[in-house]
Amino acid sequence: MNGRNTYFDNAATSFPKPPEVAAGMARYLNEMGGSYGRSAHARTVAVSRLVEETRTLLAARIGVTQAAHLIFTHNATHAINIALKGFPFAGGAVLVSPLEHNAVMRPLSRIAAERGLTIRTLPAHPDGTVDIDRIGAVLCDRTELVIVNHESNVNGVIQPIAEIKRRIGAVPLLLDAAQSAGHVAIAAERDGIDMVAITGHKGLLGPTGTGALYLKDPGRIAPLIDGGTGSNSEQFEMPGFLPDKFEAGTPNIAGICGLREALLHRPDPRHAAADLFALLEELERIPGLRVFRAADRERQGALFSFVSETMDVALFGRRLHDEFGIETRIGLHCAPAAHRHIGTFPDGTVRAAFSPYHTADDIAYLLTAVRKVQTG
Ligand code: ALA
Repeated sequence: MNGRNTYFDNAATSFPKPPEVAAGMARYLNEMGGSYGRSAHARTVAVSRLVEETRTLLAARIGVTQAAHLIFTHNATHAINIALKGFPFAGGAVLVSPLEHNAVMRPLSRIAAERGLTIRTLPAHPDGTVDIDRIGAVLCDRTELVIVNHESNVNGVIQPIAEIKRRIGAVPLLLDAAQSAGHVAIAAERDGIDMVAITGHKGLLGPTGTGALYLKDPGRIAPLIDGGTGSNSEQFEMPGFLPDKFEAGTPNIAGICGLREALLHRPDPRHAAADLFALLEELERIPGLRVFRAADRERQGALFSFVSETMDVALFGRRLHDEFGIETRIGLHCAPAAHRHIGTFPDGTVRAAFSPYHTADDIAYLLTAVRKVQTG
């Protein structure tokens, strides 16, 4: 990107991408060609090797050594649907953090209605951070699954995942890492996390249409989609082995090639964490502006929200765009539960989300623009 980077909607999808991403996709489409795992000629063998290399790179990024346990999906929503719709629920209870996205709440609500599940919210602090010391109050023999949004897409709170897993013990944990992957370290095997849903096009800086689901115990989950895999083709049943059990149909090979380049060519951040903290502190000094962020600085991810006491969110976002060229996302961010918890339902907030490409100057420009819109 030349000149000032005014794109602060990286939680919706990141931009720009490393230039190698588009080059890698074009190389596959224009020069390589060939399918994945379907034939034995050299072209397909080369492509299949590249897909598996990407699987290994992505698995390593979330602390997974058993790469076959990482299933390629189209996005985090797809990954969450596989995890939830294939889970052997038996009419018990599911605990969720108060900051869940509709990618979790919509499929979970449907399954709860169909299979008689109870959904309960984990005890939490005002910013939505799960209160570790009070988890015991809601955990019971009927608890079948705990679901936690790793980094909120509304206020950027990063949840204490390792501590949550320690407290819930053998109860499986599904981590929605849609916002955190790429920004926050994930050590799935070390922390004993049972399932991790990630997307490629946000913090990982890859193309849309890419994502993955890690399954510690894949035998427990039934496939969501049945179809051809290029393996065990004499049978009408899906293969039981990985990753084929969960990967029917030709994958997004072009996207996976782009994701590989994103993983190999991630840029060093062009701003310091201190620049973001300074921005939040300055914004909180602006009269009439209310900022929604993690109470504990150590739990702050690469995004935050705010509202004005004197202007509705739609007008604020519009003025940032029209007068300063700044792109944000306003409203409920597909996360009404999170907005209810922080007290911004139903109007929502204005959200700014960062990428490694933002410089300290870009962040200073955002501060100037918000101040001018708020104070005239
Ligand atoms: N869930 C994404 C967002 O927060 C799309 O914008």
